[in-house]
Amino acid sequence: ILTKLQKDCATPLPILRHVADAMANDMRAGLAFDGGSDLKMILSYVDSLRTGVDFVRFGGDERDEKGLFYALDLRGTNFRVLRVQLGGQERRVIATESEQVPIPQELMCATSEELFDFIASGLAKFVEKKGGEFCLLPGRKRELGFTFSFPVKQTSIDSGILINWTKGFAVSGTPGRDVVACLNEAMRRQGLDMQVSALVNDAVGTLAGARYWDDDVMVAVILGTGTNACYVERTDAIPKMAASNSQSGTTIVNTEWGAFSTGLPLTEFDEEMDAESINPGEQIFEKTISGMYLGEIVRRVLLRMTETGSLFGSSIPEKLQTPFSLRTPHICSMHQERSSDLEAVGSVLYNEAGVDSDTEAREIVLEVCDTIVKRGGRLAGAGIVGILEKMEEDTKGRIFGKRTVVAMDGGLYENYPEYRKYLQDAVMELLGPELSEKVVMEHSKDGSGIGAALLAAANSKYRHST
Ligand code: BG6
Ligand code: GLC
Repeated sequence: ILTKLQKDCATPLPILRHVADAMANDMRAGLAFDGGSDLKMILSYVDSLRTGVDFVRFGGDERDEKGLFYALDLRGTNFRVLRVQLGGQERRVIATESEQVPIPQELMCATSEELFDFIASGLAKFVEKKGGEFCLLPGRKRELGFTFSFPVKQTSIDSGILINWTKGFAVSGTPGRDVVACLNEAMRRQGLDMQVSALVNDAVGTLAGARYWDDDVMVAVILGTGTNACYVERTDAIPKMAASNSQSGTTIVNTEWGAFSTGLPLTEFDEEMDAESINPGEQIFEKTISGMYLGEIVRRVLLRMTETGSLFGSSIPEKLQTPFSLRTPHICSMHQERSSDLEAVGSVLYNEAGVDSDTEAREIVLEVCDTIVKRGGRLAGAGIVGILEKMEEDTKGRIFGKRTVVAMDGGLYENYPEYRKYLQDAVMELLGPELSEKVVMEHSKDGSGIGAALLAAANSKYRHST
């Protein structure tokens, strides 16, 4: 089973090259018209990123509410609220305060009202606790940048319709609705005096946040529970875009690359996991490379090895048979093991999968983890190269003629060193030493929250009245 798995998951250079090329082709097809490829290539309505100067006009004292913006980041497993005080000088964020709230499992398949009421009530508590000392000018509302980490068809910078849930969410009543209206209604129900000034995807928020500090940021990638990438596109390279008002001639495109599927090296375990998921046939790239699924693929392989090869003896514990019992943080902690008897691997297997293991079995488990993580990291790297090459092909020198930064964020990227290493190796192999030197992958920790607050400021409803 292990030998076949390693063969099926192998990502030698020709496969990486094929994936990178397919990513670039699918991007073009998705830019031509909606439905042109698996990649939705969503227009973000964010076309001005050099917003630092804009903030001068919001500037004031530290305790002046004019420069005060909130951000709400709805992610895969939790939501985060932030209060950002922007300074009067260009590129200065005076202060941020934040709080993170886990989303209870049952809310992931509740009704839309229940989910948004939960979020709005967390936001209201945060505002009361952290923002109470700021008083509003008469007639004004607090302003919020809303980072919503799911595929949304944006209809403007502050509105967008949920296309479908991903990452295990199955909340009823939201698909097809404007998520800003859902949040506004819930905030009203909570008596919260706040309005959404910008709606952004987490990848878009990350790019905006990272670009605030560094002009060379051209791409942002999220590798967490789910995965996504966005980049700065030239408006004249987007056939499906109606006339654009973009003064910069560019706009951020949210690829929704989690839905990519061309040429991926998949196994029977991937196919079975997909078939039993709540969104079969969808998000195949995401199911191959992102944090929600890596642990589950490993569990499926180990279960098969136990059923057919008695990897852990003759009994098959219920835990090992339970979907998602083994999670990516568990395989990550096993992967860090350095002791000769692999004791820590044994305790993770015992606690999370309910199995007793000897050293030989633990070694096999590590090989399985490594195979799945290596494939994920390398494919993510190929995806990044696909985006960079597409951008470079359109305008020679735009990417490889200078320093180009890819802003990276998400729990998987942040916490899994082996995954990061495999990703970097693949980028290096594909680009070669000379070009890969131009590409800097930078961790932009929690950049999406700041990015959303900055975009809320840039699109403030009171912009022209200050
Ligand atoms: C965070 C970003 O660090 O990573 C979020 O700030 C993003 O915007 C998140 O949604 C994704 O990672 P995870 O692991 O929370 O899914
Ligand atoms: C999923 C969502 C996407 C998000 C990504 C990372 O793929 O569809 O919108 O950006 O996860 O959180």
